[in-house]
Amino acid sequence: MESNEFTRANVPAWRSARDWLAEPHGTVNLGAAIDRHAALRPDQVAIKVRGADGTVSKLSYRALCAETTRIAHALRVVGLRPGLKAYILLERSVEFPKLVLGALKAGGVAAPLFAAFGPDPIATRIGVGGEGVLVTTHALYRRKIAPIRARLPQLRAIVLVDAPEGAWSDGVFDLNLLIAESGEGPCSVDTDESAPALLHFTSGTTGTPKAVVHSHAIGVSLVATGREVLDLGGLDRFWCTADPGWVTGTAYGVLAPLLIGATLVIDTAPFDPQRWLDTLACMRVSVWYTTPTALRMIMRARPLGQPPLEATSLRVVASVGEPLNAEVVEWGRTMLGQRIRDTWWQTETGAIMIANTPAGASADGSMGRPVIGVRAHLVRRLPLGLIHVLDDHEAAEGELAFDAAWPAMFGAYLDQPARYRSQFSNGLYLTGDLARRDARGDYWYVGRVDDAIQSSGHLIGAYEVERVLMAHPAVAEAAAIGVPDDTCGEAVHAVVSLNAGYAASDALATELRGHARARLGAVMAPRHIEFSAELPHTRSGKIMRRQVRAQALGESIVDLSMLEEASLHEA
Ligand code: PRX
Repeated sequence: MESNEFTRANVPAWRSARDWLAEPHGTVNLGAAIDRHAALRPDQVAIKVRGADGTVSKLSYRALCAETTRIAHALRVVGLRPGLKAYILLERSVEFPKLVLGALKAGGVAAPLFAAFGPDPIATRIGVGGEGVLVTTHALYRRKIAPIRARLPQLRAIVLVDAPEGAWSDGVFDLNLLIAESGEGPCSVDTDESAPALLHFTSGTTGTPKAVVHSHAIGVSLVATGREVLDLGGLDRFWCTADPGWVTGTAYGVLAPLLIGATLVIDTAPFDPQRWLDTLACMRVSVWYTTPTALRMIMRARPLGQPPLEATSLRVVASVGEPLNAEVVEWGRTMLGQRIRDTWWQTETGAIMIANTPAGASADGSMGRPVIGVRAHLVRRLPLGLIHVLDDHEAAEGELAFDAAWPAMFGAYLDQPARYRSQFSNGLYLTGDLARRDARGDYWYVGRVDDAIQSSGHLIGAYEVERVLMAHPAVAEAAAIGVPDDTCGEAVHAVVSLNAGYAASDALATELRGHARARLGAVMAPRHIEFSAELPHTRSGKIMRRQVRAQALGESIVDLSMLEEASLHEA
Protein backbone atom coordinates (compact mmCIF):
# COMPACT_ATOMS: atom_id res chain seq x y z
CA MET A 1 0.00 0.00 0.00
CA GLU A 2 2.64 2.51 0.98
CA SER A 3 4.87 1.77 -1.97
CA ASN A 4 3.18 3.30 -4.94
CA GLU A 5 3.16 0.39 -7.33
CA PHE A 6 1.21 1.98 -10.11
CA THR A 7 3.93 1.37 -12.68
CA ARG A 8 2.93 -2.28 -12.70
CA ALA A 9 -0.69 -1.41 -13.42
CA ASN A 10 -1.68 -1.89 -17.00
CA VAL A 11 -3.06 1.60 -17.62
CA PRO A 12 -1.91 2.89 -21.01
CA ALA A 13 -2.55 6.56 -20.11
CA TRP A 14 -0.19 6.25 -17.13
CA ARG A 15 2.44 4.33 -19.10
CA SER A 16 2.58 6.89 -21.86
CA ALA A 17 2.72 9.78 -19.35
CA ARG A 18 5.57 8.09 -17.51
CA ASP A 19 7.45 7.36 -20.71
CA TRP A 20 7.23 11.04 -21.56
CA LEU A 21 8.47 12.19 -18.13
CA ALA A 22 11.29 9.70 -17.52
CA GLU A 23 14.93 10.33 -18.42
CA PRO A 24 16.55 7.72 -20.67
CA HIS A 25 18.11 6.10 -17.60
CA GLY A 26 14.74 5.87 -15.84
CA THR A 27 14.80 8.68 -13.24
CA VAL A 28 12.08 11.35 -13.14
CA ASN A 29 12.61 14.97 -12.11
CA LEU A 30 9.53 17.05 -12.85
CA GLY A 31 11.55 20.28 -12.95
CA ALA A 32 13.87 18.86 -15.59
CA ALA A 33 11.06 17.10 -17.51
CA ILE A 34 9.72 20.48 -18.59
CA ASP A 35 13.03 21.21 -20.31
CA ARG A 36 12.10 18.63 -22.93
CA HIS A 37 9.76 21.21 -24.45
CA ALA A 38 12.65 23.68 -24.53
CA ALA A 39 14.52 21.20 -26.70
CA LEU A 40 11.58 20.37 -28.97
CA ARG A 41 9.79 23.73 -29.25
CA PRO A 42 12.09 26.36 -27.71
CA ASP A 43 10.11 29.38 -28.91
CA GLN A 44 6.73 28.10 -27.77
CA VAL A 45 5.33 30.44 -25.09
CA ALA A 46 5.47 28.65 -21.72
CA ILE A 47 4.03 31.42 -19.53
CA LYS A 48 1.99 34.43 -20.46
CA VAL A 49 1.39 36.94 -17.66
CA ARG A 50 -1.18 39.71 -17.40
CA GLY A 51 0.03 42.24 -14.85
CA ALA A 52 -2.26 44.22 -12.57
CA ASP A 53 -1.79 47.24 -14.87
CA GLY A 54 -2.86 45.19 -17.89
CA THR A 55 0.58 44.77 -19.48
CA VAL A 56 1.23 41.33 -20.93
CA SER A 57 4.61 39.60 -20.86
CA LYS A 58 5.70 36.25 -22.25
CA LEU A 59 8.32 33.68 -21.41
CA SER A 60 9.34 30.97 -23.91
CA TYR A 61 10.14 27.37 -22.94
CA ARG A 62 13.77 28.12 -23.81
CA ALA A 63 13.85 31.02 -21.33
CA LEU A 64 11.93 29.07 -18.69
CA CYS A 65 14.44 26.23 -18.92
CA ALA A 66 17.41 28.61 -18.54
CA GLU A 67 15.91 30.65 -15.72
CA THR A 68 14.79 27.68 -13.65
CA THR A 69 18.26 26.18 -13.97
CA ARG A 70 19.79 29.40 -12.63
CA ILE A 71 17.29 29.41 -9.76
CA ALA A 72 18.23 25.80 -8.96
CA HIS A 73 21.89 26.85 -8.73
CA ALA A 74 21.00 29.84 -6.55
CA LEU A 75 18.91 27.76 -4.15
CA ARG A 76 21.71 25.25 -3.80
CA VAL A 77 24.11 28.05 -2.89
CA VAL A 78 21.92 28.99 0.10
CA GLY A 79 21.69 25.41 1.28
CA LEU A 80 18.78 23.72 -0.51
CA ARG A 81 19.65 20.03 -0.73
CA PRO A 82 17.73 16.98 -1.98
CA GLY A 83 14.91 16.29 0.44
CA LEU A 84 15.01 19.71 2.12
CA LYS A 85 12.03 22.05 1.72
CA ALA A 86 11.83 25.10 -0.46
CA TYR A 87 9.00 27.04 1.20
CA ILE A 88 7.50 29.34 -1.39
CA LEU A 89 5.43 32.23 -0.04
CA LEU A 90 4.30 34.16 -3.11
CA GLU A 91 1.17 35.68 -4.60
CA ARG A 92 0.11 34.90 -8.17
CA SER A 93 3.17 35.80 -10.24
CA VAL A 94 5.57 34.48 -12.86
CA GLU A 95 8.04 33.88 -10.03
CA PHE A 96 5.87 31.16 -8.51
CA PRO A 97 6.18 28.56 -11.32
CA LYS A 98 9.84 29.44 -11.78
CA LEU A 99 10.58 28.85 -8.10
CA VAL A 100 8.65 25.56 -8.01
CA LEU A 101 10.55 24.23 -11.03
CA GLY A 102 13.90 25.57 -9.83
CA ALA A 103 13.43 23.94 -6.42
CA LEU A 104 12.53 20.62 -8.08
CA LYS A 105 15.56 20.76 -10.36
CA ALA A 106 17.74 21.26 -7.29
CA GLY A 107 16.20 18.08 -5.83
CA GLY A 108 14.34 20.08 -3.18
CA VAL A 109 10.76 19.63 -2.02
CA ALA A 110 8.58 22.55 -3.11
CA ALA A 111 6.35 23.59 -0.19
CA PRO A 112 4.01 26.43 -1.15
CA LEU A 113 2.55 28.58 1.64
CA PHE A 114 -0.60 30.66 1.27
CA ALA A 115 0.35 34.36 1.15
CA ALA A 116 -2.90 35.37 2.89
CA PHE A 117 -1.96 33.41 6.00
CA GLY A 118 -0.99 35.43 9.02
CA PRO A 119 2.35 34.82 10.78
CA ASP A 120 0.91 32.13 13.11
CA PRO A 121 -0.22 29.60 10.48
CA ILE A 122 3.02 30.17 8.59
CA ALA A 123 5.16 29.44 11.66
CA THR A 124 3.07 26.34 12.43
CA ARG A 125 3.53 24.97 8.93
CA ILE A 126 7.26 25.55 8.75
CA GLY A 127 7.48 23.93 12.19
CA VAL A 128 5.72 20.86 10.80
CA GLY A 129 7.59 20.85 7.48
CA GLY A 130 11.10 21.09 8.94
CA GLU A 131 14.45 22.22 7.59
CA GLY A 132 14.75 24.19 4.37
CA VAL A 133 14.88 27.62 2.78
CA LEU A 134 12.10 30.16 2.30
CA VAL A 135 11.51 32.23 -0.84
CA THR A 136 9.23 35.25 -0.68
CA THR A 137 8.86 38.91 -1.60
CA HIS A 138 10.22 41.85 0.33
CA ALA A 139 6.72 43.02 1.34
CA LEU A 140 5.60 39.57 2.53
CA TYR A 141 8.88 39.14 4.37
CA ARG A 142 8.37 42.37 6.29
CA ARG A 143 4.73 41.67 7.16
CA LYS A 144 4.71 37.93 7.79
CA ILE A 145 8.19 36.59 8.38
CA ALA A 146 10.25 39.28 10.14
CA PRO A 147 7.91 39.27 13.21
CA ILE A 148 8.34 35.49 13.69
CA ARG A 149 11.91 35.07 12.53
CA ALA A 150 13.07 33.94 15.96
CA ARG A 151 10.52 31.10 15.82
CA LEU A 152 11.90 29.71 12.56
CA PRO A 153 15.20 27.97 13.34
CA GLN A 154 14.36 25.47 10.56
CA LEU A 155 15.18 28.03 7.88
CA ARG A 156 18.73 27.86 6.52
CA ALA A 157 18.13 31.01 4.49
CA ILE A 158 15.47 33.43 3.32
CA VAL A 159 15.58 34.47 -0.32
CA LEU A 160 13.78 37.57 -1.62
CA VAL A 161 12.70 37.62 -5.26
CA ASP A 162 12.59 41.44 -5.25
CA ALA A 163 15.14 42.51 -2.66
CA PRO A 164 15.62 46.28 -2.63
CA GLU A 165 19.06 47.64 -3.44
CA GLY A 166 21.60 47.31 -0.70
CA ALA A 167 23.32 44.65 1.27
CA TRP A 168 21.24 41.99 2.95
CA SER A 169 22.53 40.14 5.91
CA ASP A 170 21.28 37.95 8.70
CA GLY A 171 20.48 35.02 6.43
CA VAL A 172 18.35 37.05 4.01
CA PHE A 173 19.50 36.92 0.37
CA ASP A 174 18.71 38.65 -2.89
CA LEU A 175 17.68 36.06 -5.49
CA ASN A 176 18.96 38.15 -8.38
CA LEU A 177 22.37 38.60 -6.78
CA LEU A 178 22.53 34.89 -6.04
CA ILE A 179 21.67 34.12 -9.65
CA ALA A 180 24.31 36.54 -10.90
CA GLU A 181 26.95 34.84 -8.78
CA SER A 182 25.85 31.21 -9.23
CA GLY A 183 26.85 28.60 -11.82
CA GLU A 184 25.59 28.56 -15.37
CA GLY A 185 25.84 24.91 -16.34
CA PRO A 186 23.09 22.30 -16.19
CA CYS A 187 21.72 21.76 -12.70
CA SER A 188 19.29 18.96 -12.32
CA VAL A 189 19.43 16.37 -9.58
CA ASP A 190 18.58 12.84 -10.71
CA THR A 191 15.60 11.93 -8.60
CA ASP A 192 13.94 8.57 -8.39
CA GLU A 193 10.20 8.88 -9.06
CA SER A 194 9.52 7.98 -5.44
CA ALA A 195 11.68 10.90 -4.18
CA PRO A 196 9.65 13.62 -2.42
CA ALA A 197 8.80 16.57 -4.69
CA LEU A 198 5.96 18.51 -3.08
CA LEU A 199 4.77 19.26 0.43
CA HIS A 200 1.27 20.64 0.90
CA PHE A 201 -0.37 21.48 4.15
CA THR A 202 -3.94 20.45 4.76
CA SER A 203 -6.11 20.83 7.81
CA GLY A 204 -8.05 18.32 9.82
CA THR A 205 -10.49 19.12 12.60
CA THR A 206 -8.03 18.32 15.35
CA GLY A 207 -4.34 18.79 15.85
CA THR A 208 -1.82 20.64 13.75
CA PRO A 209 -2.05 20.80 9.94
CA LYS A 210 -0.93 17.66 8.15
CA ALA A 211 1.99 17.93 5.75
CA VAL A 212 1.10 15.85 2.70
CA VAL A 213 4.11 14.47 0.82
CA HIS A 214 3.99 13.83 -2.93
CA SER A 215 6.77 12.29 -4.96
CA HIS A 216 7.82 13.05 -8.54
CA ALA A 217 5.41 10.27 -9.59
CA ILE A 218 2.59 12.80 -9.16
CA GLY A 219 3.50 14.04 -12.64
CA VAL A 220 2.18 10.83 -14.21
CA SER A 221 -1.35 11.45 -12.94
CA LEU A 222 -1.12 15.16 -13.71
CA VAL A 223 -0.21 14.55 -17.33
CA ALA A 224 -2.83 11.79 -17.70
CA THR A 225 -5.68 13.83 -16.15
CA GLY A 226 -4.54 17.05 -17.83
CA ARG A 227 -4.99 15.29 -21.15
CA GLU A 228 -8.10 13.25 -20.34
CA VAL A 229 -10.15 15.62 -18.17
CA LEU A 230 -8.95 19.08 -19.17
CA ASP A 231 -8.25 18.01 -22.75
CA LEU A 232 -4.97 19.95 -22.58
CA GLY A 233 -2.57 19.90 -25.50
CA GLY A 234 0.49 21.80 -26.66
CA LEU A 235 -1.56 24.48 -28.42
CA ASP A 236 -3.71 25.46 -25.45
CA ARG A 237 -3.61 28.60 -23.36
CA PHE A 238 -4.51 27.30 -19.93
CA TRP A 239 -5.63 29.45 -17.01
CA CYS A 240 -5.86 27.89 -13.55
CA THR A 241 -7.14 30.52 -11.14
CA ALA A 242 -6.13 28.71 -7.93
CA ASP A 243 -3.97 30.59 -5.48
CA PRO A 244 -0.37 29.34 -5.51
CA GLY A 245 -0.65 28.45 -1.82
CA TRP A 246 -3.02 25.52 -2.38
CA VAL A 247 -2.46 22.17 -3.98
CA THR A 248 -4.31 23.08 -7.18
CA GLY A 249 -2.03 26.08 -7.65
CA THR A 250 1.00 23.80 -8.04
CA ALA A 251 -0.52 20.63 -9.48
CA TYR A 252 -2.62 22.23 -12.21
CA GLY A 253 -1.42 25.83 -11.85
CA VAL A 254 2.17 24.86 -12.73
CA LEU A 255 2.96 21.22 -13.36
CA ALA A 256 0.19 19.73 -15.52
CA PRO A 257 0.15 22.42 -18.23
CA LEU A 258 3.93 22.85 -18.38
CA LEU A 259 4.58 19.09 -18.44
CA ILE A 260 2.14 18.87 -21.33
CA GLY A 261 3.73 21.82 -23.11
CA ALA A 262 0.75 24.20 -23.09
CA THR A 263 0.94 27.95 -22.45
CA LEU A 264 0.27 28.80 -18.82
CA VAL A 265 -1.75 31.99 -18.34
CA ILE A 266 -1.29 33.97 -15.11
CA ASP A 267 -3.27 37.00 -14.04
CA THR A 268 -1.53 38.70 -11.12
CA ALA A 269 -4.52 40.87 -10.11
CA PRO A 270 -6.86 39.85 -7.31
CA PHE A 271 -10.29 38.43 -8.14
CA ASP A 272 -12.77 40.76 -9.74
CA PRO A 273 -15.60 39.41 -11.91
CA GLN A 274 -15.17 41.87 -14.78
CA ARG A 275 -11.37 41.61 -14.68
CA TRP A 276 -11.53 37.83 -14.94
CA LEU A 277 -13.91 37.99 -17.88
CA ASP A 278 -11.51 40.41 -19.59
CA THR A 279 -8.62 38.04 -18.91
CA LEU A 280 -10.48 35.14 -20.50
CA ALA A 281 -10.97 37.21 -23.63
CA CYS A 282 -7.71 39.16 -23.96
CA MET A 283 -5.43 36.23 -23.06
CA ARG A 284 -7.42 34.03 -25.45
CA VAL A 285 -7.79 31.37 -22.77
CA SER A 286 -8.80 28.03 -24.28
CA VAL A 287 -8.94 25.89 -21.13
CA TRP A 288 -10.05 27.40 -17.83
CA TYR A 289 -9.84 25.68 -14.42
CA THR A 290 -11.54 27.56 -11.60
CA THR A 291 -13.84 27.21 -8.58
CA PRO A 292 -17.59 27.24 -8.07
CA THR A 293 -17.21 30.27 -5.76
CA ALA A 294 -15.56 32.32 -8.53
CA LEU A 295 -18.15 31.14 -11.04
CA ARG A 296 -21.01 32.05 -8.70
CA MET A 297 -19.57 35.55 -8.20
CA ILE A 298 -19.20 36.05 -11.93
CA MET A 299 -22.72 34.70 -12.39
CA ARG A 300 -24.00 37.32 -9.97
CA ALA A 301 -22.19 40.08 -11.85
CA ARG A 302 -23.39 38.79 -15.22
CA PRO A 303 -26.72 36.98 -14.67
CA LEU A 304 -28.63 35.02 -17.28
CA GLY A 305 -30.50 37.39 -19.53
CA GLN A 306 -27.45 39.55 -20.24
CA PRO A 307 -25.52 38.99 -23.48
CA PRO A 308 -23.28 35.87 -23.50
CA LEU A 309 -19.60 36.40 -22.75
CA GLU A 310 -17.11 37.09 -25.47
CA ALA A 311 -14.51 34.48 -24.63
CA THR A 312 -14.43 32.97 -28.06
CA SER A 313 -11.30 30.85 -27.62
CA LEU A 314 -12.73 29.01 -24.62
CA ARG A 315 -13.30 25.32 -25.26
CA VAL A 316 -13.06 23.69 -21.82
CA VAL A 317 -14.21 25.04 -18.43
CA ALA A 318 -13.67 22.93 -15.33
CA SER A 319 -14.14 23.50 -11.63
CA VAL A 320 -12.87 22.04 -8.35
CA GLY A 321 -12.98 22.39 -4.59
CA GLU A 322 -16.65 22.56 -3.76
CA PRO A 323 -19.92 21.22 -5.06
CA LEU A 324 -20.77 22.66 -8.47
CA ASN A 325 -24.46 23.35 -8.35
CA ALA A 326 -26.65 22.69 -11.38
CA GLU A 327 -27.60 26.40 -11.67
CA VAL A 328 -23.99 27.32 -12.36
CA VAL A 329 -23.71 24.56 -14.95
CA GLU A 330 -26.82 25.92 -16.65
CA TRP A 331 -25.43 29.48 -16.53
CA GLY A 332 -22.16 28.27 -18.09
CA ARG A 333 -23.98 26.58 -20.92
CA THR A 334 -25.76 29.79 -21.85
CA MET A 335 -23.19 32.44 -20.98
CA LEU A 336 -19.92 30.64 -21.77
CA GLY A 337 -21.28 28.26 -24.36
CA GLN A 338 -19.68 25.43 -22.38
CA ARG A 339 -20.78 22.66 -20.09
CA ILE A 340 -18.69 23.36 -16.97
CA ARG A 341 -16.99 20.13 -15.94
CA ASP A 342 -16.84 19.29 -12.27
CA THR A 343 -13.69 17.60 -10.97
CA TRP A 344 -13.19 16.03 -7.55
CA TRP A 345 -9.91 15.46 -5.78
CA GLN A 346 -8.06 16.43 -2.61
CA THR A 347 -4.56 17.28 -1.45
CA GLU A 348 -3.89 13.64 -0.60
CA THR A 349 -4.99 12.29 -3.98
CA GLY A 350 -2.63 14.71 -5.75
CA ALA A 351 -4.63 14.74 -8.96
CA ILE A 352 -8.19 14.66 -10.28
CA MET A 353 -9.91 11.37 -9.37
CA ILE A 354 -13.56 11.90 -10.38
CA ALA A 355 -14.70 14.16 -13.17
CA ASN A 356 -17.22 15.01 -15.81
CA THR A 357 -15.06 14.04 -18.77
CA PRO A 358 -15.80 14.95 -22.37
CA ALA A 359 -16.60 11.30 -23.04
CA GLY A 360 -19.09 10.79 -20.20
CA ALA A 361 -22.46 12.52 -20.15
CA SER A 362 -22.89 12.89 -16.39
CA ALA A 363 -25.92 14.61 -14.89
CA ASP A 364 -25.61 18.33 -14.09
CA GLY A 365 -24.67 18.76 -10.42
CA SER A 366 -22.90 15.38 -10.20
CA MET A 367 -19.13 15.12 -9.90
CA GLY A 368 -19.02 12.52 -12.66
CA ARG A 369 -17.10 9.26 -12.74
CA PRO A 370 -13.63 7.99 -11.80
CA VAL A 371 -10.96 8.96 -14.32
CA ILE A 372 -9.11 6.35 -16.36
CA GLY A 373 -7.13 3.95 -14.18
CA VAL A 374 -8.83 5.00 -10.93
CA ARG A 375 -11.23 2.65 -9.11
CA ALA A 376 -13.71 4.23 -6.71
CA HIS A 377 -15.85 2.59 -4.04
CA LEU A 378 -18.30 3.62 -1.34
CA VAL A 379 -17.66 2.22 2.11
CA ARG A 380 -18.99 2.28 5.66
CA ARG A 381 -16.51 2.49 8.50
CA LEU A 382 -16.83 -0.21 11.16
CA PRO A 383 -15.19 -0.28 14.58
CA LEU A 384 -11.49 -1.21 14.90
CA GLY A 385 -10.49 0.41 11.60
CA LEU A 386 -12.47 -2.09 9.53
CA ILE A 387 -14.67 -1.15 6.61
CA HIS A 388 -17.58 -2.57 4.71
CA VAL A 389 -17.37 -2.01 0.95
CA LEU A 390 -20.79 -1.39 -0.60
CA ASP A 391 -21.66 -3.21 -3.83
CA ASP A 392 -19.83 -1.35 -6.62
CA HIS A 393 -22.64 -2.00 -9.09
CA GLU A 394 -25.47 -0.52 -7.04
CA ALA A 395 -26.66 2.98 -6.22
CA ALA A 396 -25.47 3.76 -2.68
CA GLU A 397 -24.24 6.41 -0.26
CA GLY A 398 -21.12 6.10 1.86
CA GLU A 399 -17.57 7.30 2.34
CA LEU A 400 -15.69 7.68 -0.91
CA ALA A 401 -12.67 5.39 -1.18
CA PHE A 402 -10.18 4.40 -3.90
CA ASP A 403 -7.98 1.42 -4.68
CA ALA A 404 -4.70 2.63 -3.19
CA ALA A 405 -2.72 2.40 -6.42
CA TRP A 406 -2.66 5.50 -8.57
CA PRO A 407 0.49 7.44 -9.47
CA ALA A 408 -0.32 10.66 -7.55
CA MET A 409 -1.26 8.97 -4.30
CA PHE A 410 0.43 10.78 -1.40
CA GLY A 411 3.33 8.94 0.16
CA ALA A 412 3.10 10.18 3.75
CA TYR A 413 1.84 12.66 6.26
CA LEU A 414 5.26 13.97 7.25
CA ASP A 415 6.40 12.38 10.53
CA GLN A 416 2.94 10.92 11.19
CA PRO A 417 2.98 7.30 9.99
CA ALA A 418 0.07 6.25 12.21
CA ARG A 419 -2.12 9.05 10.91
CA TYR A 420 -1.19 8.05 7.37
CA ARG A 421 -2.01 4.39 7.98
CA SER A 422 -5.37 5.31 9.48
CA GLN A 423 -6.45 6.66 6.07
CA PHE A 424 -6.20 3.16 4.58
CA SER A 425 -8.10 -0.06 5.08
CA ASN A 426 -8.28 -3.24 2.98
CA GLY A 427 -6.02 -1.74 0.31
CA LEU A 428 -8.32 1.27 -0.05
CA TYR A 429 -7.60 4.93 0.60
CA LEU A 430 -10.46 6.49 2.61
CA THR A 431 -11.15 10.09 1.61
CA GLY A 432 -13.18 11.41 4.54
CA ASP A 433 -15.83 12.61 2.06
CA LEU A 434 -19.34 11.24 1.85
CA ALA A 435 -20.70 10.65 -1.63
CA ARG A 436 -23.69 9.13 -3.35
CA ARG A 437 -23.52 6.94 -6.45
CA ASP A 438 -26.61 6.90 -8.63
CA ALA A 439 -27.89 4.05 -10.76
CA ARG A 440 -25.93 5.35 -13.78
CA GLY A 441 -22.65 5.29 -11.88
CA ASP A 442 -22.30 9.07 -11.41
CA TYR A 443 -20.95 10.27 -8.06
CA TRP A 444 -22.61 13.13 -6.12
CA TYR A 445 -20.97 15.06 -3.32
CA VAL A 446 -22.62 14.76 0.10
CA GLY A 447 -20.24 16.31 2.62
CA ARG A 448 -17.28 15.72 4.89
CA VAL A 449 -17.20 12.86 7.31
CA ASP A 450 -15.47 15.08 9.81
CA ASP A 451 -16.21 18.73 10.52
CA ALA A 452 -13.66 20.61 8.46
CA ILE A 453 -14.98 23.89 7.11
CA GLN A 454 -15.13 24.42 3.39
CA SER A 455 -14.93 28.12 2.52
CA SER A 456 -14.27 29.47 -0.98
CA GLY A 457 -12.76 26.13 -1.95
CA HIS A 458 -10.38 26.08 1.00
CA LEU A 459 -10.50 23.43 3.64
CA ILE A 460 -10.17 25.07 7.04
CA GLY A 461 -9.47 23.08 10.15
CA ALA A 462 -11.77 24.09 12.97
CA TYR A 463 -9.13 23.51 15.57
CA GLU A 464 -6.68 25.98 14.10
CA VAL A 465 -9.28 28.74 14.36
CA GLU A 466 -10.33 27.70 17.84
CA ARG A 467 -6.80 27.59 19.12
CA VAL A 468 -6.20 31.22 18.17
CA LEU A 469 -9.50 32.34 19.70
CA MET A 470 -8.68 30.53 22.90
CA ALA A 471 -5.37 32.38 23.06
CA HIS A 472 -7.41 35.54 23.83
CA PRO A 473 -7.73 36.11 27.60
CA ALA A 474 -11.52 36.46 27.43
CA VAL A 475 -12.13 33.09 25.76
CA ALA A 476 -12.61 29.90 27.73
CA GLU A 477 -13.60 27.61 24.90
CA ALA A 478 -14.32 27.99 21.22
CA ALA A 479 -15.98 25.95 18.50
CA ALA A 480 -15.46 26.90 14.86
CA ILE A 481 -18.05 25.69 12.39
CA GLY A 482 -19.06 26.35 8.80
CA VAL A 483 -22.43 27.96 8.17
CA PRO A 484 -24.00 28.01 4.69
CA ASP A 485 -23.10 31.04 2.63
CA ASP A 486 -24.34 31.79 -0.87
CA THR A 487 -20.99 33.05 -2.09
CA CYS A 488 -18.23 31.10 -0.45
CA GLY A 489 -20.08 27.84 0.25
CA GLU A 490 -19.50 28.01 3.97
CA ALA A 491 -18.52 30.96 6.13
CA VAL A 492 -16.42 30.46 9.25
CA HIS A 493 -18.54 31.00 12.35
CA ALA A 494 -17.28 30.69 15.92
CA VAL A 495 -19.17 30.11 19.12
CA VAL A 496 -17.20 30.96 22.26
CA SER A 497 -17.71 30.71 25.99
CA LEU A 498 -16.06 33.32 28.16
CA ASN A 499 -13.79 33.23 31.16
CA ALA A 500 -15.01 34.61 34.47
CA GLY A 501 -14.82 38.37 34.62
CA TYR A 502 -15.74 38.88 30.94
CA ALA A 503 -19.19 39.72 29.61
CA ALA A 504 -20.56 39.16 26.11
CA SER A 505 -20.85 42.36 24.09
CA ASP A 506 -20.67 43.60 20.51
CA ALA A 507 -17.42 45.33 21.36
CA LEU A 508 -15.88 42.05 22.56
CA ALA A 509 -17.09 40.23 19.43
CA THR A 510 -15.41 42.88 17.28
CA GLU A 511 -12.24 42.62 19.33
CA LEU A 512 -12.16 38.81 18.96
CA ARG A 513 -12.69 39.05 15.20
CA GLY A 514 -9.78 41.49 14.97
CA HIS A 515 -7.60 39.25 17.16
CA ALA A 516 -8.32 36.24 14.94
CA ARG A 517 -7.86 38.15 11.71
CA ALA A 518 -4.46 39.49 12.73
CA ARG A 519 -3.17 36.00 13.47
CA LEU A 520 -4.99 33.82 10.98
CA GLY A 521 -5.51 36.08 7.98
CA ALA A 522 -8.80 36.93 6.28
CA VAL A 523 -9.58 33.48 4.84
CA MET A 524 -9.45 31.58 8.11
CA ALA A 525 -10.71 34.19 10.58
CA PRO A 526 -14.35 33.81 11.68
CA ARG A 527 -16.78 36.17 10.06
CA HIS A 528 -19.25 35.89 12.95
CA ILE A 529 -18.67 35.37 16.65
CA GLU A 530 -21.45 34.19 18.90
CA PHE A 531 -21.37 33.81 22.69
CA SER A 532 -22.63 30.81 24.60
CA ALA A 533 -22.59 30.10 28.34
CA GLU A 534 -21.28 26.57 27.74
CA LEU A 535 -20.36 24.46 24.72
CA PRO A 536 -21.63 20.87 24.32
CA HIS A 537 -19.04 18.07 24.77
CA THR A 538 -18.73 14.42 23.83
CA ARG A 539 -18.28 11.85 26.52
CA SER A 540 -14.55 11.93 25.97
CA GLY A 541 -14.66 15.67 26.66
CA LYS A 542 -14.31 16.95 23.09
CA ILE A 543 -16.47 19.75 21.77
CA MET A 544 -19.38 18.48 19.67
CA ARG A 545 -19.15 20.79 16.70
CA ARG A 546 -22.13 19.22 14.98
CA GLN A 547 -24.28 20.08 17.95
CA VAL A 548 -22.87 23.61 18.02
CA ARG A 549 -23.62 23.92 14.33
CA ALA A 550 -27.18 22.63 14.72
CA GLN A 551 -27.80 25.16 17.48
CA ALA A 552 -26.25 28.01 15.52
CA LEU A 553 -28.48 27.18 12.55
CA GLY A 554 -31.55 26.84 14.76
CA GLU A 555 -31.92 23.12 14.00
CA SER A 556 -33.39 21.56 17.10
CA ILE A 557 -33.04 17.86 16.22
CA VAL A 558 -29.61 16.37 16.14
CA ASP A 559 -29.21 12.76 15.10
CA LEU A 560 -27.63 11.14 18.14
CA SER A 561 -26.11 8.31 16.11
CA MET A 562 -24.21 10.93 14.13
CA LEU A 563 -22.87 12.42 17.32
CA GLU A 564 -21.75 9.00 18.51
CA GLU A 565 -20.09 8.47 15.16
CA ALA A 566 -18.43 11.87 15.40
CA SER A 567 -16.99 11.07 18.79
CA LEU A 568 -15.76 7.71 17.45
CA HIS A 569 -13.82 9.46 14.71
CA GLU A 570 -12.42 11.97 17.13
CA ALA A 571 -11.34 9.35 19.64
O1 PRX B 1 -14.51 17.75 0.47
C1 PRX B 1 -13.90 17.68 -0.79
C2 PRX B 1 -13.79 19.06 -1.42
O2 PRX B 1 -12.51 19.55 -1.10
C3 PRX B 1 -11.81 18.59 -0.29
C4 PRX B 1 -10.36 18.61 -0.60
O3 PRX B 1 -9.81 19.83 -0.21
P1 PRX B 1 -8.28 20.10 -0.44
O4 PRX B 1 -7.48 18.94 0.06
O5 PRX B 1 -8.01 21.44 0.13
O6 PRX B 1 -8.12 20.14 -2.00
C5 PRX B 1 -8.85 21.11 -2.71
C6 PRX B 1 -8.52 21.09 -4.17
C7 PRX B 1 -8.37 19.79 -4.80
C8 PRX B 1 -12.45 17.27 -0.65
O7 PRX B 1 -12.21 16.30 0.34
N1 PRX B 1 -13.95 18.98 -2.86
C9 PRX B 1 -13.00 18.92 -3.81
N2 PRX B 1 -13.55 18.88 -5.03
C10 PRX B 1 -14.88 18.88 -4.86
C11 PRX B 1 -15.14 18.94 -3.47
N3 PRX B 1 -16.38 18.95 -2.97
C12 PRX B 1 -17.40 18.88 -3.85
N4 PRX B 1 -17.24 18.82 -5.19
C13 PRX B 1 -16.01 18.82 -5.74
N5 PRX B 1 -15.85 18.76 -7.06
